[in-house]
Amino acid sequence: MASNTRKRVLLGCTGSVATIKLPQLIDRLRQHNLEIRVVVTEKAKHFLKEAELPPGVQVLSDTVEWAAWQDRGDPVLHIDLVKWADLFLIAPLDANTLGKIASGICDNILTCVARAWNPKKPLVFCPAMNTKMWEHPVTAPQIALLKSWGYKEVTCISKTLMCGDTGMGGMAEVDTIVQTTLRLLNPWDPYSPPDLRL
Ligand SMILES: Cc1cc2nc3c(=O)[nH]c(=O)nc-3n(C[C@H](O)[C@H](O)[C@H](O)COP(=O)(O)O)c2cc1C
Repeated sequence: MASNTRKRVLLGCTGSVATIKLPQLIDRLRQHNLEIRVVVTEKAKHFLKEAELPPGVQVLSDTVEWAAWQDRGDPVLHIDLVKWADLFLIAPLDANTLGKIASGICDNILTCVARAWNPKKPLVFCPAMNTKMWEHPVTAPQIALLKSWGYKEVTCISKTLMCGDTGMGGMAEVDTIVQTTLRLLNPWDPYSPPDLRL
């Protein structure tokens, strides 16, 4: 546990190209005096340039988690992270991990955190996927299920995607994600814009 009162955000990243926005997202969150740790899937690592991250940001993956546990008494990282964080922000949430979380699958550090998450604590998710994936009939019920647990969706946007297609599926703007995160961390702030009140 941290010894100060800064709010702690656990940022989860999955194998979407939108993970390239991670440095920008961390930068913006840190402007609000938040403590940040990052959990990534193995596929997310492909899009992540750790050298571009602000110094001091821990990036935690399956490699780190499994190396940390050697014997009885060693930390179980995903459980420690669940206890550590005030809020879990999954940005981007790709189609694969969305499906896993919706069905309770927990086969990596990020999905283990999600599986052990206490739904009374805020969880924000930011879907990002190709338009064809977004429009597939499996997507909407999975999103609705996460929302029924009290999780907050930051809706994806329509844009020209990295693959060249134009349509829904782009991750929301970084500013929108940050504002929603702040709102959930400080739900009683009367000065928040009405459209962000929950
Ligand atoms: C170049 C590239 C870009 C991708 N972008 C996305 C994306 O934006 N959204 C998505 O849902 N899947 C995307 N995928 C597919 C995921 O990476 C794939 O489903 C992967 O298994 C996800 O693993 P993870 O959920 O464990 O991170 C992309 C794949 C490649 C090769």
